[in-house]
Amino acid sequence: MKSFQNKNIIIAVTGGIAAYKMCNVIRLLKKEKANVKVIMSEAATQFITPLTLSTLSENEVTVSLWPENKYQSTKKSVEHISLGLWGDAMIIAPASAHTISKLTNGMASDIIGVTVLSLRCPLIIAPAMDVDMYQNELTQKNISYLKEMGYFIIPPEEGELASGLKGVGRLPEPEKLVEFLRTVISGKHLDLKGKNILVTAGPTHEPIDPVRFIGNHSSGKMGFALARVASQRGANVTLISGPVSLQTPKNVKRIDVTTSVEMTKAVFSGVKKNQIIFMSAAVADYTPEKTELNKIKKNKKNFSLSLKETTDILASLRSKNKKAFLVGFALETENEVVNATNKLLHKNVDMIILNSLRDKGAGFGRDTNKVTIIDRNKSIEELSLMSKYNVAEEILERVVRLIKKPDAKKH
Ligand code: CTP
Repeated sequence: MKSFQNKNIIIAVTGGIAAYKMCNVIRLLKKEKANVKVIMSEAATQFITPLTLSTLSENEVTVSLWPENKYQSTKKSVEHISLGLWGDAMIIAPASAHTISKLTNGMASDIIGVTVLSLRCPLIIAPAMDVDMYQNELTQKNISYLKEMGYFIIPPEEGELASGLKGVGRLPEPEKLVEFLRTVISGKHLDLKGKNILVTAGPTHEPIDPVRFIGNHSSGKMGFALARVASQRGANVTLISGPVSLQTPKNVKRIDVTTSVEMTKAVFSGVKKNQIIFMSAAVADYTPEKTELNKIKKNKKNFSLSLKETTDILASLRSKNKKAFLVGFALETENEVVNATNKLLHKNVDMIILNSLRDKGAGFGRDTNKVTIIDRNKSIEELSLMSKYNVAEEILERVVRLIKKPDAKKH
């Protein structure tokens, strides 16, 4: 239980009645020998005084970005930078809707905003507000965005709120906030640390001539979400991507390819060193037998293209790496579960993520997905419609569970 000894914790308090709970959070952390520095928004000082929090934390509390006497010292004007370097973890609690919105936009208008932008340690955000403000689509969108950026979110709890309304919005009790901080400080959330993970994403383009290709509608979003979540859990992630217009997730090594041949080469060269492989790319099954050097002219009434089969990358992986945990994807339009289960067996993989084009909100280009996860132990689990980031989290959760169970894989 020594996890906080000599650890530097930054506590940011914003405007909300739950600000009083932070007194106890500070006391609990001090009891465990943490060094605590508090920063506050102006609004927070309406709910609790800086004097209270500085007394408890045994440190100066910063509210303003600016030095009180600008002619006397410039040290204070770089406080946010030094704080960003000083912290081992930062928690914003309660995090108001206003602060959450400012963070989403990267605003540096107060001490909390600038500290977050210059932060090098993990950041935990604990939203707390009235139920309607919390459930508002804008707030929800902002929270999802911050989560995708890699910040930890402690969801608010349900109960009686200061407004007199009942619902979700209460800041969890101090003990819970401290336990969450403990998990982050101890690095327990990095459960994929040391694991090499390969993810493929996007479509392939099979050239017909210099201006045309055979492609598909894959946007790459699902694969990029998997790469992002795996990297946030500490894995070394290589992302092999077909042509997409997406930003590479932080700390992920990206290899860009265009054709199925290039994708095959890139995957095969990395197959041995990866312990988990996600084949979420929509690789073309057929490619033109021949790519014309010049543009094909429109000089015939009928035109046919001769195609040849491509390598089935996923089906070739087991023979190249007996131990890797292999995850395939199956996009189906009919007899979904039967077809996907057949793919799992036929391609000798550990898990298949089934997408049905019949499901509303699932499929190409969207930010949401609805999948069914089928694994080698014949478990079939249908998930509800959720963001692709959340789907990625659910998939990784199950993969981690299965690789931890030694008897879960039999090839
Ligand atoms: N896949 C692959 N190499 C290919 C084609 C597909 O590695 N040449 C992988 C995909 O990345 C996916 C899985 O195989 O993980 C299933 O892809 P899908 O297109 O659904 O299935 P196919 O095997 O191509 O079968 P069909 O198109 O007949 O449904």
